Amino acid sequence: MPATRPGVRGAVITGWGTALPDTVLTNADLEKQMDTSDAWIRERTGIHQRHVGGSTASLSTASGRAALEMSGVDPADMDALVLATTTPDRAVPATASTVQHELGLACGAFDVNAACSGWVYALVNAHGLIAMGADKVLVIGTDTLDRITDYTDRNTGILFGNGSGAVVLEAVDGPGQLLSWDLDSVGEAESALFCEIGGVLQMEGREVFRRAVRIMVDSATKSMRHAGVTADDIALVIPHQANTRIIAAALERLGIEYERSSIVLDTTGNTSSASVPLALAAALDAGRVDAGDLILFVGFGAGMTAASSIIRWSPDAVEARP
Ligand code: ACO
Repeated sequence: MPATRPGVRGAVITGWGTALPDTVLTNADLEKQMDTSDAWIRERTGIHQRHVGGSTASLSTASGRAALEMSGVDPADMDALVLATTTPDRAVPATASTVQHELGLACGAFDVNAACSGWVYALVNAHGLIAMGADKVLVIGTDTLDRITDYTDRNTGILFGNGSGAVVLEAVDGPGQLLSWDLDSVGEAESALFCEIGGVLQMEGREVFRRAVRIMVDSATKSMRHAGVTADDIALVIPHQANTRIIAAALERLGIEYERSSIVLDTTGNTSSASVPLALAAALDAGRVDAGDLILFVGFGAGMTAASSIIRWSPDAVEARP
């Protein structure tokens, strides 16, 4: 399956942006509303705080606008908007339609729900659109998990927050950045993490932890094999930001030092579909990515889904835009 086929029209990331709501919920705040402690949350998850508030449409519009501005693409020239979210503002229509209108786009727009793997699913789908002829695609990952989280439940309330990250993908003549990808789902495990419509997240934390490490390693290994690269070749891992212990355990099994990963969950908590693009933007903004570097994206989430992909960072390829 999915190594990018030779000759397929490729794409490069030409802009990125992020958005976090202003309101911060610290571990100290949570100590007042549940039986927990700042020390326990930091030690067991790595999380210090999370952001709450905003809507999926407003955060998506903000990150999408920032990505568009960086890329210099005229919104009217965008060919598609793919919004990864597991917390749409309404059941109908897709939140992507609201964002499309707010950003002044004139193109198809749809939501993708693959929980915390969602943005990697969306990125792969966007590459598929480009392979089929689209020139420019906006790929956003946003979640407002405060709307489905009980912040008095210490089993789940310590983990989740809101945020958004976006990239602009533009077609190039010749190979693009994406070398390989893997999308997976194990539906039989859905009871480990779910939320009924109108309800709040229910989670078997230990079971999710155990499965998460396994499926992250499995998916990342497949993507590396499809790309014909090894762990030593990976310059930077952008993992789903759920828990530093999950990330450390998965990286250890993959043979990749923890220092070769981008971590933002200490300040954001688990933002589901937003976590990978937030961690990507942080690494890019910090100048941690050089031309030619291989970046491994790897996510997991409710479903239970897993997704990974490998890109070769190639800013020079921008010159080959059609
Ligand atoms: N504060 C203080 N103590 C706590 C808390 C808390 N919030 N929660 C549990 N404890 C206690 C327990 O009661 C238990 O005490 P005991 O030893 O006296 O019985 C002890 O801490 C250990 O409890 P565990 O449940 O074993 O804690 P664990 O180390 O597994 O950490 C956690 C719990 C953080 C939830 C962990 O299991 C985890 O991160 N799981 C994965 C969750 C996840 O990533 N979910 C998102 C998936 S992505 C998506 O799609 C949204």
